[in-house]
Amino acid sequence: MSQDLFKNAQELLEKVQAFATESKDELERFRIDILGSKGKVRQLFGGMKAIEADKRKEFGQLANAVKQAAETKLSEIRELIEDKADETIKVPDMFIPVNQQGMGSRHPLAVVMNQMIDIFTRIGFVIEEGPEIETDWYNFTALNTPENHPARDMQDTFYINRMTDPAMLLRTHTSAAQSRVMKDRKPPIRIIVPGRVYRNETISARAHCQFHQVEGLYIDEGVSFADLKQTLLYFAREMFGEHTNIQLRPSFFPFTEPSAEMDVSCFVCDAKGCAICKHTGWVEILGCGMVDPKVLENCGIDSEKYTGFAFGIGIERTTMLRYKVDDIRLMFENDARFLRQFSSTL
Ligand code: DAH
Repeated sequence: MSQDLFKNAQELLEKVQAFATESKDELERFRIDILGSKGKVRQLFGGMKAIEADKRKEFGQLANAVKQAAETKLSEIRELIEDKADETIKVPDMFIPVNQQGMGSRHPLAVVMNQMIDIFTRIGFVIEEGPEIETDWYNFTALNTPENHPARDMQDTFYINRMTDPAMLLRTHTSAAQSRVMKDRKPPIRIIVPGRVYRNETISARAHCQFHQVEGLYIDEGVSFADLKQTLLYFAREMFGEHTNIQLRPSFFPFTEPSAEMDVSCFVCDAKGCAICKHTGWVEILGCGMVDPKVLENCGIDSEKYTGFAFGIGIERTTMLRYKVDDIRLMFENDARFLRQFSSTL
């Protein structure tokens, strides 16, 4: 009889030690079954009376071992289940508001430059680049501005080294890239060159020592001033709106003949007169002209066969007019409060 009880207790101990579950409910059933008020441990102790007196102590120790094993098992499995529950909480909660990251916005100069690129590439102009560190020859000499030519004073140049041959400088206009392309390629040539240029100017609200231009050049047989005018009218209307008018005023550039400056009807006041157009109704935005035959010859293009037009648009100027910015220095200060105001998908 007592042997059976010992055997049962021993079996129960092994069963308890082997018990495993991941379920809270099953664990609770285990607790009630083993440690509950009517559970197996209670029954074991209840059975003590039936044990011979000399074996009671041993049986008591065995019953205690079962109780202890069950309690240990219970707390071990509980801990395990709780750890698992913690892990599920660590799964990202999709409904927690995200840390707002600013989308950023394009620099206004980039917005306007990209618009210009878009407008000209639509009618077949191809984007070209030239170096910002340029030789004197491409920047001036090829463009009909030899040394000691008074026109060099128009563009206060940052020379890098005047003593080298050729002298090295920071390009004063994107026209320098014109001469490179003309020298390297055969017509037809239809390019635009967006880029940064440098001039040794005192920095003020209206002038800076660095700024941007978009240069245009079209060379082919039979290109005329009428083509230039029509191309620029198209550009002005795409850029500033379909009701924009243009006017070309005679001007001088060493590399074009004839040369002109182009005004657009003031888009701020609808040409009625305002501070931006100085009450004239017109705003100057670019220089242009027919490429001087001498320039074509300097770059190895037959000026008997080919003619061409060129233009150079100031990007800062256009941007400032467009967004009514009255100080060019803002363009280069990278002040987030200024930059945040501009956005565009272009
Ligand atoms: N390079 C001139 C400047 O920096 C702008 C310009 C005028 C470019 C006439 C041209 C042009 O291509 O034909 O002021």
